[in-house]
Amino acid sequence: MKILDTLKGRFEQALDGLIDNPAAYSARIAQARDPRFGDYQANIAMPLAKTLGKNPVDIANSIVQRLQIDDLCESVDVAGPGFINLKLRSQFLASSLSQAAGNDRLGVSAVRNPQTYVVDYSAPNVAKPMHVGHIRSTVIGDSLCKILRFLGHRVISDNHLGDWGTQFGMVIYGYKHFVDRSAYERAPVAELSRLYRLVQQIIGYQAAVSQIDKTREQLRLAIRRMQELIAKADAGDKKAAKEVKAADRNVAAVRESLEEIERKIANIEGDSSLHAAAHGHPVLDQRAQLETAKLHSGDPENLALWNQFLPWCIEEIETVYRRLGIKFDLQLGESFYHPMLGDLVQRLLSSGLAQQSEGATCIFLEGYDAPMIIRKQDGAFLYATSDLATIEYRLKQYSPDVILYVVDHRQSEHFAKLFAAAAALGYHHVTLKHVSFGTVLGPDGKPFKTRSGTVIGLEYLLDEAVQRAYQVVCHPERLQKANLRMTNEEQHAVAEAVGLGAIKYADLCHNRTSDYEFDIEQMVQLDGNTSAYIQYSFARASSILRNSGVDLGSPNVDSLSMELVNTAERDLALYLLQFEDVLHQCLEDYLPSVLVAYLYGIAKQYAVFFDQCPVLKADNEHLMLSRLRICDATCKTLQKGLELLGIATVPRM
Ligand code: ARG
Repeated sequence: MKILDTLKGRFEQALDGLIDNPAAYSARIAQARDPRFGDYQANIAMPLAKTLGKNPVDIANSIVQRLQIDDLCESVDVAGPGFINLKLRSQFLASSLSQAAGNDRLGVSAVRNPQTYVVDYSAPNVAKPMHVGHIRSTVIGDSLCKILRFLGHRVISDNHLGDWGTQFGMVIYGYKHFVDRSAYERAPVAELSRLYRLVQQIIGYQAAVSQIDKTREQLRLAIRRMQELIAKADAGDKKAAKEVKAADRNVAAVRESLEEIERKIANIEGDSSLHAAAHGHPVLDQRAQLETAKLHSGDPENLALWNQFLPWCIEEIETVYRRLGIKFDLQLGESFYHPMLGDLVQRLLSSGLAQQSEGATCIFLEGYDAPMIIRKQDGAFLYATSDLATIEYRLKQYSPDVILYVVDHRQSEHFAKLFAAAAALGYHHVTLKHVSFGTVLGPDGKPFKTRSGTVIGLEYLLDEAVQRAYQVVCHPERLQKANLRMTNEEQHAVAEAVGLGAIKYADLCHNRTSDYEFDIEQMVQLDGNTSAYIQYSFARASSILRNSGVDLGSPNVDSLSMELVNTAERDLALYLLQFEDVLHQCLEDYLPSVLVAYLYGIAKQYAVFFDQCPVLKADNEHLMLSRLRICDATCKTLQKGLELLGIATVPRM
């Protein structure tokens, strides 16, 4: 049921003949913000008044006169400076909800002109540990695929793995020089991760050693500058007084980077074997880069190591995907495109789209100072080169209308340039969209990390969330109070659904563009804007349906007219009927958070209904059956909605 679309359609008919572009104005109908203004409100007359040079109230009245909407609305009022307030007929809501609830798509129709989408998401750089940052892309991308598919679009999900990058040079170098054989045989990925971190740590140390003197000097200057400003300010210099704060912040920032540098140095120098390794392998960053370059140019030894490592790395991330229920149609990593890059660069050069500049091959883009480099002086290809090849490949194989890139906002510049380059290459018939997202923060407001400074591994976090969910939801006292007798097995299934749901939900409920604080304690709670709260509403409504013993599918119940007597049930019905509109809104800017807010709204409205409208103890049987069907519609909408977010439901909790 597309209520909003239906209303818009009626307004367009009424506006037809009055103005040239009714659709531009019908877009100004929205849900009323306050129930006193009805269910929907059209803010059309005021903007039209300017165009037509007439009084807005008169315009509103003449629109209302032309409007044929009696079958849907019980009242249509002109209010204030010219708003048109619409109140829907309860009868219309009741019959629409009856229809929706009896339909396995909840009355949501497939779009009339389906599009083909390639959705590029998750895409971790393998051979280094997967961390909480990766979950955002995975969860947002998965949900967008599900919503697109449900609305009838064709979707190809592609996990564009980072399986060819510099991290392999680091791991290969580490393997050649530092491997612990027996550890590798026991747990290859753990050992590869250790090697990656070790090499990274030594590279960090060597950089720190080369920066420390300069940073100390910077700090000295920053402090001196601040002292000078303070002295001037004390002497009455207003301009200086204004600058003190910024200077102080600058001192704090430089001090913080100095401390970071000192920490990196102390960590290595405090450990004699690390210290020896760091000194035995100077300029390690260059050595690792050399290993990457050898891999890329087909060196047999490095290629063999890569072939040996990759399946382990993939198995590792697949464990996480299996647990989260994530599946991809394709998993074509960067390595897949490598063989195409030489030819691509040649073609771009010979067609004149790319040029040699200072030894590198570049595409010059309008609006950008720096060109996009597609081949470095030393012959190496770049991330951008393989992304260009990926676009070509996808166009050839799937002819998509849209390619979505669900990637961290820090890559905005990369994608802006990539899209500009794609346009320059003549790929106009596809819409390329960077669906960017913010950072996952720790309680300190900085990117989420453990105390020791390493990013927390994802699997550990999933376990932790499930564990905490278990403590909250399967607490013996709670189960006893709710009279829920569950086997151990059922308890674990509930904890798994709630814990994993919590992680996904916490990620999806924030507008994707903002950063959010990862707070595992809060996210598994049963109250508030959490998945557990919604899963619980579902379970509660399900249990009423079970306890009633009524078969809602039986023809005499199914054909029964619904009644919306109480405001609480009417409001709930109106909410439930917006499902289709909400799904379309989600896709306007690819925001699963719109669906989350909607489901949370239903759960809250259901709580009001539950409080005010007795179901099994309703005044008469007709009302009971009607309310059971409202519970049923609620269950189905919550379940479908959560499913589109990748979150499971359990029949009781
Ligand atoms: N592997 C990249 C990273 O972790 C993300 C890849 C996104 N997709 C793409 N086609 N560039 O930063």
